[in-house]
Amino acid sequence: MTEHKNKIHIVYFTGTGGTGYAADTLTTAFKDKNYKVYCSELLQSKLPSINENETLVLMFPVYAADAPHVIYRWIASLTKVISQKAVVVSVSGGGEISPNTACRMKSVRRLIKKGYQVDNEYSLCMPSNFIMPTHDILAINLLKILPGKCEIIVNEVTGNIKRRKKVNFIDRIILLLCHGEKIGSKIAGRLMRVTDDCNGCGLCAIQCPKSNITMKDNRPEYHFSCELCLRCVYLCPKKAVKLRILKRFVLKEGFNINSYIKKIHEDTLISEEGIPDGFLWKGIVSYLQDINIL
Ligand SMILES: Cc1cc2nc3c(=O)[nH]c(=O)nc-3n(C[C@H](O)[C@H](O)[C@H](O)COP(=O)(O)O)c2cc1C
Repeated sequence: MTEHKNKIHIVYFTGTGGTGYAADTLTTAFKDKNYKVYCSELLQSKLPSINENETLVLMFPVYAADAPHVIYRWIASLTKVISQKAVVVSVSGGGEISPNTACRMKSVRRLIKKGYQVDNEYSLCMPSNFIMPTHDILAINLLKILPGKCEIIVNEVTGNIKRRKKVNFIDRIILLLCHGEKIGSKIAGRLMRVTDDCNGCGLCAIQCPKSNITMKDNRPEYHFSCELCLRCVYLCPKKAVKLRILKRFVLKEGFNINSYIKKIHEDTLISEEGIPDGFLWKGIVSYLQDINIL
């Protein structure tokens, strides 16, 4: 077995586990090629550092056609490097439809400003945790084809095959307009409502990736750095965490990535009637139908 000089460092943020699962799958794909891989979850309390012999693979869920705020905070904290290789991977519920195509733009630019050489960017799709759930069969198939998509990423990154994506003008404009939503998400924590069903278990506070929740008198208290990742909403065993505004963001049926993972070995062929119509699912359907779409 050959010993590779370059190491891979995957740094990811995840709200409800989809990006975490994708990061684990990509880790396995690099390891299968005999690469030494470090995989670090980005938490408010833990900002990983990148060594000079590491290729950085940055992964994040798409929020309002953009990266989570914590990603920019982390990039700002990085020390300057000289032409160190970096790869940016977005994970979305909708795929490369407009305006999602702009979602990696700012993180790529900021990494380049830090001296990174970003020759590769990818878009992975995972089940949607927001507004509209992904049809079950599509969701399970997204997980099934993930190892194949990751293998392509590994082959291209290690084979020095570049893949950069163009962002169209309209998507750039929409990204600017969406900025208001991001400011909204920063105060969203203050707008969380905890109902009387709360039993004070504190799971939300323990699990919040932004450390934005503390327990006071056995009740969760939200502060000012909410990413609106919805982790606390979906994991609450009593379903006691609600949004005061933007209520439609939350899936009525809840979201649990593990329930899809459990079904990964089931026979779930995509039939014509299983494919939903409409622009919203266009990106997902083409991603599923063509292994080379990333
Ligand atoms: C606040 C919020 C905003 C989102 N915005 C988008 C979006 O603009 N486009 C999209 O395709 N998916 C969007 N999503 C869906 C997530 O990107 C998708 O479900 C992703 O897989 C979640 O990853 P996670 O489980 O690691 O948090 C959004 C989700 C949330 C919670």
